[in-house]
Amino acid sequence: MEKYNCKITGKKIKKIINFGKMPIANGFLKKKDFKKEFFFDLTVLFSEELSLLQLNDHPKPRMMFNSKYPFYTSSSESMKLHFKEYANWAKKKFLKKNKSKIIEIGSNDGTFLNNFRTKDIEHLGFEPSKNVSDLARKRGINSIHEFFSRDSLSKAERFIGTTDIIFGANVVCHIPNLIEFIKTADKLLNDNGKIIFEEPYLGSMYKKTSYDQIYDEHIFIFSVTAISKIFNLFDFQIIDAIPQITHGGSMRYIIERKKKRNYNNKIKKIFEIERREKINSLEGALNFKKNCELSKEKLLDKLTKIKKQGHKICGYGATSKSTTILNYCNIGPDIIDCIFDTTPDKIGKFSPGKHIPIVDYKNFTKQFYDYAFLFAWNHKKEIEKKEKNYLKKGGKWITHL
Ligand code: SAH
Ligand code: TYD
Repeated sequence: MEKYNCKITGKKIKKIINFGKMPIANGFLKKKDFKKEFFFDLTVLFSEELSLLQLNDHPKPRMMFNSKYPFYTSSSESMKLHFKEYANWAKKKFLKKNKSKIIEIGSNDGTFLNNFRTKDIEHLGFEPSKNVSDLARKRGINSIHEFFSRDSLSKAERFIGTTDIIFGANVVCHIPNLIEFIKTADKLLNDNGKIIFEEPYLGSMYKKTSYDQIYDEHIFIFSVTAISKIFNLFDFQIIDAIPQITHGGSMRYIIERKKKRNYNNKIKKIFEIERREKINSLEGALNFKKNCELSKEKLLDKLTKIKKQGHKICGYGATSKSTTILNYCNIGPDIIDCIFDTTPDKIGKFSPGKHIPIVDYKNFTKQFYDYAFLFAWNHKKEIEKKEKNYLKKGGKWITHL
């Protein structure tokens, strides 16, 4: 177990909530490995100085990101479309010159970079999980299987000081050492270079009480205020923030080298909203804690009632998020018989911690479950469309939200 090693924790750090012992969120496992399963203490802190919601402890990155990482960006059609639109937006807005160089951090199976395979654009992906990095390479993506840090720059020499944009999605919140991340970006970017990344948004998590966004990989849940304070410690500043509907509410941040002294009006307005809604202060975090506890109570009431009525419940979408719900609320196979999923690497295994069997989604229509717990609630539209017969047969979707 590696102690928390974020170098920017900020001062005035308060403990917010302890979700209890947690396994690796994406650590789907076989029966023979139950006994040696790893657990850590999932505690959330809030730094008042940086307005930063963060984990206390987390497993070593290599325990999570290795040759068996079971998350594939391309497992969602709507995310594939989102990444195509993200790429087109960036090309139009920032990549108009003849020759551009771009990098993606956490490029996974290459879904996003695949949109940049034109002769005018040179791309590079940093992807430490070997299985997904290899898959991207097979698809023709220039992906190196490395964590994004100055130690791996010998493999990216052509990009040093010449990169136009460093992109990321759902990855910056995975990087414990944000100082190393920013210093690596500083080495790679040209004078006018930008860092553009989108991550689950703290304001959306508070609004929905979607505490399942908190798990080992998500070391931080950012707000615009936190991001501006972090980059402001360096020679960078935030110039835009654009809300996204993905993953239940995300924010896209655009960062560049400091040029002006002041924030623009749009950013100032967001600061004002985050102040008003207490997203930037301890009060918001403490309120979230209360809502998590209430949500747990309500969910357990709902599931107990359903079971007492003699109904059968399954899960849908073996997400990493579901690991937090199941372990925090102590929900096991006595309540949820199995979880249906599309990922070959997860099917036939068991959910982390609570050991609920993961089953091929193709069998969802073969057996009838009165209730299906939609753990992939952020893909609701896509899944309800795919499984439209379930409602017709009298099935009911439920979530903890
Ligand atoms: N960007 C993709 C994948 C998100 S999952 C998407 O939005 O769908 C996070 C990815 O980041 C994983 O593939 C993981 O291996 C990778 N990752 C984790 N830590 C990293 C780091 N320090 N540098 C680069 N990639 C990292
Ligand atoms: P997602 O919310 O993107 O992942 P996470 O919480 O792990 O970051 O959900 C991805 C999981 O949901 C993945 O295991 C595949 C599964 N899934 C389905 O089973 N069917 C679907 O139609 C979709 C979109 C996802």
